[in-house]
Amino acid sequence: MYKLIIKGGAKLSGAVSVGGAKNASLPILAATLLAEGQYILRNVPKLHDIGTMSKLLSQLDVQAECDKNSRFCGTDGIDICLSSVNGDLLLTNNGGARCEALYEVVKTMRASILALGPLLAKRSKARVSLPGGCAIGERPVDLHISALEAMGADIKVSHGYIDAECSRLKGADITFKTITVTGTENIMMAAVLADGVTVLQNAAQEPEIVDLANFLRRMGAKITGDGTHCIQIEGVDKLRPADYSVMPDRIEAGTFLCAVAGAGGGAVITGAPVAEMKALISSLKSAGVKITDKGGGDLFVESDGVLNATDVTTMPYPGFPTDMQAQFMAVMTKAVGTSLINETIFENRFMHVAELKRMGADITVKDSSAVVRGVKELSGAQVMASDLRASAGLVIAALMASNTSEVQRIYHLDRGYEDFEKKLALLGADIKRVKAS
Ligand code: EPZ
Repeated sequence: MYKLIIKGGAKLSGAVSVGGAKNASLPILAATLLAEGQYILRNVPKLHDIGTMSKLLSQLDVQAECDKNSRFCGTDGIDICLSSVNGDLLLTNNGGARCEALYEVVKTMRASILALGPLLAKRSKARVSLPGGCAIGERPVDLHISALEAMGADIKVSHGYIDAECSRLKGADITFKTITVTGTENIMMAAVLADGVTVLQNAAQEPEIVDLANFLRRMGAKITGDGTHCIQIEGVDKLRPADYSVMPDRIEAGTFLCAVAGAGGGAVITGAPVAEMKALISSLKSAGVKITDKGGGDLFVESDGVLNATDVTTMPYPGFPTDMQAQFMAVMTKAVGTSLINETIFENRFMHVAELKRMGADITVKDSSAVVRGVKELSGAQVMASDLRASAGLVIAALMASNTSEVQRIYHLDRGYEDFEKKLALLGADIKRVKAS
């Protein structure tokens, strides 16, 4: 186990590049179940979750080609392949018949549910462990299941597993009662080989869904409307493997914007998907952060570290991303005035509040709202990460604090950020990873 030691107070400067999107890579990896043959996936980030997904695929006869230095011994001791030759992920789908995503892997990464749709579409059978909840909420998958049933799948849920069968799924008109990102992705992947047309209403519009649709189209799928609330998929008989480069990670880019906003200084974030970051950029500008689009994905961000309190409400895309809520809250802890932060997507995504209060933040949570009263100073403390984005928020608060902080359980961070502390150190942060005693 490791922890981060962070000495706060340094102003940030220099430049940092944005990696590939975790939440685009995961569904795209799952989509390799849909056609036999070789795939080259580029710009896939070296993250623990990517390693876990490649381990899951290896149990489903899709092998990632790994060189020795791309192996990674995860916190659960599983030796997993993160990425292969020069950072490209080479995957071969051997056309096997295995169709079980077991609890041992699924329990470590909820996104394993993304195997359900493609397995059912391609192998007519799937046995996938229910993902279970996580720190931020119950995370049900009822909408995934009901949509597949509407497409003709015979599904039983028992003993913690989803057992699904269907010789060939049928196109259907499906309306999601709640906007669900992986639900939209799962059904899109189920529909591409179905018999007939599937229309998804109230579909999620996240950019990662468009990235998945682009990959599926390259495989020969017929999809229109992705990026809107209504997606049409015309099923085809067969798909082919494809090469693809994953979109940049808008949440990693936004996390670095918040780090500079909170710590102060001036830096360039390069390779960011700027057009997909409008809501966050608008909120940071309202708080007084100077953000200049230099073109070509380069954002210049400048802050004197003393900002105006700003209210945000998390919403499905293109609204303010729930995955940026903890990082933005950290920035608001020292803003002048009082900010109201409403979390409308997940029922328990304020786990970082108690830890921020240990650093001297003044925050009151009532139901799904947090009232953040700006304080003059945060004091360094030992804090504990609870989930991926909460840990990023704690690191940002530690950069803003006087004296030294320790952030423990940073395996949460390693799930979604590649070389996070190295990139922050490149920007001038006094941060290092040490073995936890
Ligand atoms: C995806 O999770 C992301 N994960 C999450 O990012 C992100 O926070 C979330 O979308 C919202 O944007 C990946 O893409 C791998 P949802 P997902 O289904 O798909 C309810 C990160 O930090 N719901 O859109 O699991 C659910 O409870 C992670 O990178 C049902 O009720 O989220 C929630 O309240 C965290 N039934 C709401 O919908 C269902 O069947 C939105 O969840 C499915 C979802």
